[in-house]
Amino acid sequence: MLKIDDFASFSRVATPFYYYDIDLFRRTVDKVAELSERTGIHVHYSLKANSDRRLNEMISSRGLGADCVSGDEIDFAVSCGYNPKKIFFAGVAKSDKEICQAFQVGIGAFVVESLEEIEIVSDIARRLGRKAPMSLRINPNIDPHTHHYITTGLYEDKFGISDRSFDEAVAMVKDNPYIDFYGLQFHIGSQIMEVSDVVKLECEKVNEIVALFERIGLEVRNIDLGGGLGIDYDDPDGNPIADFETWFRTIDENLVRRPDQTVHVEPGRSLVAQSGSLITEVLYVKKGENRRFLMVDAGMNDLIRPALYGAYHKIENLTAHYEDGDGRGCRVYDVVGPVCESADCFGKERALAKSHRGDRIAIRSAGAYGQVMASRYNMRPFAPSVYSDRVTEAPRKKNYFANED
Ligand code: LLP
Repeated sequence: MLKIDDFASFSRVATPFYYYDIDLFRRTVDKVAELSERTGIHVHYSLKANSDRRLNEMISSRGLGADCVSGDEIDFAVSCGYNPKKIFFAGVAKSDKEICQAFQVGIGAFVVESLEEIEIVSDIARRLGRKAPMSLRINPNIDPHTHHYITTGLYEDKFGISDRSFDEAVAMVKDNPYIDFYGLQFHIGSQIMEVSDVVKLECEKVNEIVALFERIGLEVRNIDLGGGLGIDYDDPDGNPIADFETWFRTIDENLVRRPDQTVHVEPGRSLVAQSGSLITEVLYVKKGENRRFLMVDAGMNDLIRPALYGAYHKIENLTAHYEDGDGRGCRVYDVVGPVCESADCFGKERALAKSHRGDRIAIRSAGAYGQVMASRYNMRPFAPSVYSDRVTEAPRKKNYFANED
């Protein structure tokens, strides 16, 4: 069950909101920073997973870098205190404006995804009188055994440069006065659970490709393995911190690197997912023909993962736990939101404590790709961030019936 220290204050905060467990988050970041120091593997947090300012300031203050995919993410990262030199700029379709923004900030490297992009970035560098620090994103054609929407390293995916174009890429980069060749980047997919097997395979493939590039004449100074480490959506309390140990160890043991080469990773989900929950309130318990619906005040606009990927998030009735000590018994519900779409459903046939209007519900493991993928569909407002150590500062639920007190 989600740990709430002061449930009385918590239950007065206006819903829906994203609740961040700052203590868990700090422990997660500490773990990653410590492993990074121990192994010498550089970490660039993938900002797309969560761009909450406070969380990002906490990450940057530990000296970690950032992986950005838009001009605004770059500017935001700088404003959160990330060292520009530790910012990588990836993305399959960077606009001229974004490329110029990145030059202005003085980022660490452009991660370039196609031959066409090498040409454009090098041309913009020429026109600006600059040299572009550049990594090439490689499509290694590895199946990470994850959801097909978050698989990125197969030939049929739009990402990266595949081995069929290596010679041409090298020819374009080598001796180009506007390019400072930096290294190679790989990212095969997200929510990878078979870490030791998949990452070992990835390292073996990377070793081959790095050797190949060096054979055809480019010195690979930096090797970036991307992100992808999975988290336990089924049991967020049993496994609150992702298996960073295995991830770092597998890389450390299987990636061939010379002392003059640096290794980088770009975790997103694994740093933020378990620290965040979407908190919502029950508006109606509707008895349908064949099912019972728990209708809550958060919708697919606040958390789209279940609707978009069929993703599983654990759902809990917090009021039943904190106020009644779980003494209500269980019922099976479809937990649905207010948006006018049948896909607006957080979970089907979930066994939950018997629920009533006004109960607080937690949708767990929502810290990654939750708040950042929110929309204002149906003109619903964005759910704000509430931090576990600042609950009393959060906006309170309004009393519309003051005259009844
Ligand atoms: N590096 C690159 C180049 C990436 O494309 C990604 C994620 C990451 C790092 C971070 O991966 P992570 O450690 O978070 O797995 N919205 C989807 C996930 C999309 C991931 C996109 N790329 C979801 O909700 O599952």
